[in-house]
Amino acid sequence: YNVPKAFNEPVKSYAPGTKEREQVLAAFKEMYNSTVDVPLYIGSEEIRTGDTKTINPPFDHKKVVGHYHQAEKQHVAQAIEAALKAKTQWAAMAWEHRASIFLKAAELLAGPYRAKINAATMIGQAKTVHQAEIDSACEFIDFLRFNVEFMTKIYAEQPVSSEGIWNRMEHRPLEGFIYAITPFNFTAISGNLPSAPALMGNVVVWKPSATQMLSAGVIMEVFKEAGLPAGVINMVSGNSAMISEVLIGSRDFAGVHFTGSTGVFNDIWAKIGQNISKYKTYPRIVGETGGKDFVLAHPSSIPAQVATALSRGAFEYQGQKCSAASRAYIPKSIWPQVKELLLADMASMKMGSPEDMSNFVSAVITESSFDKLAAFIDAAKNANDAEVIAGGNYDKSVGYFIEPTVILTDNPKYDTMCTELFGPVLTIHVYEDAKWEETLKLVDETSPYALTGAIFSQDRYAIEQATKALENSAGNFYINDKPTGAVVGQQPFGGARASGTNDKAGSILNLLRWVSPRTIKETF
Ligand code: SER
Repeated sequence: YNVPKAFNEPVKSYAPGTKEREQVLAAFKEMYNSTVDVPLYIGSEEIRTGDTKTINPPFDHKKVVGHYHQAEKQHVAQAIEAALKAKTQWAAMAWEHRASIFLKAAELLAGPYRAKINAATMIGQAKTVHQAEIDSACEFIDFLRFNVEFMTKIYAEQPVSSEGIWNRMEHRPLEGFIYAITPFNFTAISGNLPSAPALMGNVVVWKPSATQMLSAGVIMEVFKEAGLPAGVINMVSGNSAMISEVLIGSRDFAGVHFTGSTGVFNDIWAKIGQNISKYKTYPRIVGETGGKDFVLAHPSSIPAQVATALSRGAFEYQGQKCSAASRAYIPKSIWPQVKELLLADMASMKMGSPEDMSNFVSAVITESSFDKLAAFIDAAKNANDAEVIAGGNYDKSVGYFIEPTVILTDNPKYDTMCTELFGPVLTIHVYEDAKWEETLKLVDETSPYALTGAIFSQDRYAIEQATKALENSAGNFYINDKPTGAVVGQQPFGGARASGTNDKAGSILNLLRWVSPRTIKETF
C-alpha cells in the first residue's frame, strides 16, 4: 500500500541559542503562569462537571497550573454511548482516511504543537526538556507514523487463493468499544494506547492518569485539530474504580489497552472475568505492567560502559520509566572502577525545575511516591545488610525531590533488589567473579517481572550464555547498552511474566489485537 514511509522523528537538541529552546521556554512560561481547565471529552462535547481537582507541578506542588474535571457515573455511560454512536461511520471509513488523521496528528506534534506538548510534559510530569522531547514529541510521533505502516502490512497480508476460489481476510475492528488506561510516565504511551485501536477502526473511552492531565488535554486538542471525528476517542477522568466498573461492566466492552501497575491490571483482569458471560465478544486484554529491570555486568565488561548505563538507565526521568534500571549485579573485579565513574557522574547531576535546563533530574510524581521512596531509603540507611553509598537525601518542602540514590547490598535478595520502587533508587549487588553462573540464576529468579534487562560483556561466550539463561527474564533485552530508550520501529517494547501480556507497543503484534478478522471464501 502506498503510505508515507515511516521514519523516527529526529530528536532536537535544545542547546542554548536554538529556536526550539526559545519556543519551549516560552510555552513553559505561558503554561506555568496560567491555569488550564481540562474538561471531559465526550462525543463532540467538552464537559465541565464542576467536580474538579487541581493540577500541580511535582517540582513546585503548591503552585496550581490548572484543574481537571472529574466524571460521574452518568458521564462514563455517556462516553460509551458517544463511542458507539461514532462507531458505525468510523469503522466503515476507508483506512486511508483514518491513517491521514493520525499522520496529520504526527505532523502537528512535530511542528506547531511540539513546544506545547513538551512544556505540558515538563510541568505536569516533571520531565526535563530532553526527556520530554524523546517522549511527548519523538516517541509519540513515531507511534503514529509506524502504526500506519504496520496497519497497511496487516491489510496486505492475505491467504492463498486457487483456481475458482478467492480467499480473503477482512480485518474488522472489534465489536464494541476499547477502554484505554494510561500512566503518567510517558505522554507517548498515553497517545498510543487510545490511538492504536482507533487507527484500526475501533472507538475508545480513554482514562488518563490523574497525574498526567496537563498533557492529556493537549493530546485531545491535537487529535481534534487533526480531524478526528467526535466520539472516536472520548476522554474521561475521575475515580478509577468507578470508571472501570462502568466500562468493564458494559455489554459492549471489547477490550482494554493498559499501561500501569501489575496490581491494577490484575484487578481489571479479575473484573473482566466476573463479567465474562455478559459480553458480546471475548474482550482483548492487552497490558504493560510493572518491572524490576536489571543491569548485569560480566567480568569482561568495560567499566565506563557499565557506569554510564547505570547512571542514565537508573536516574533519567527520576527512575520513573518502566524500563529504568533498578537492580544491578557487578563483578568484584571491576566494581571499584564502576563505582568511581558512577559516583562521579552522579555528583554532576543537578536537580530542580525542568525550566532550568541544566538540571538532569526533577521531582518524583506524587507525595505518596515520595514517601514510599523515602521509607525505602531510610530502611537501607538502618539495615545491617545494605548501605546507601550515594545520594540518600530527600525534601518535599517545595517539590517531591528525591536525590538519585545508590544502595549497595551483600544480600542479593535484599528488599530493594526485589521490590519495584519506581523512583531514582538503584540497588547494586557486587558478586564474586567466579559466581557468574549463580548470578545468572539470581537475576532470573529474584523478581517476578520480565520487562527490560541489560547485560554487559566483551566475551561472546558469556553474552550467548546470558542471552539463553535470561530468555524469559526480559521482553526487551539489551547487550552492551542501557535498558531504557526503546525506539518505536526499532525495539518493539513490552515484557511478559508480571510485566504484562507482551503485545509489544508500536508493532504489528499490538495492532493485530485490535482487529477481529473475517475469513471470506468465495467460489466461482
Ligand atoms: N521507550 C521507553 C523506554 O524504553 C518505554 O516506552 O524507556
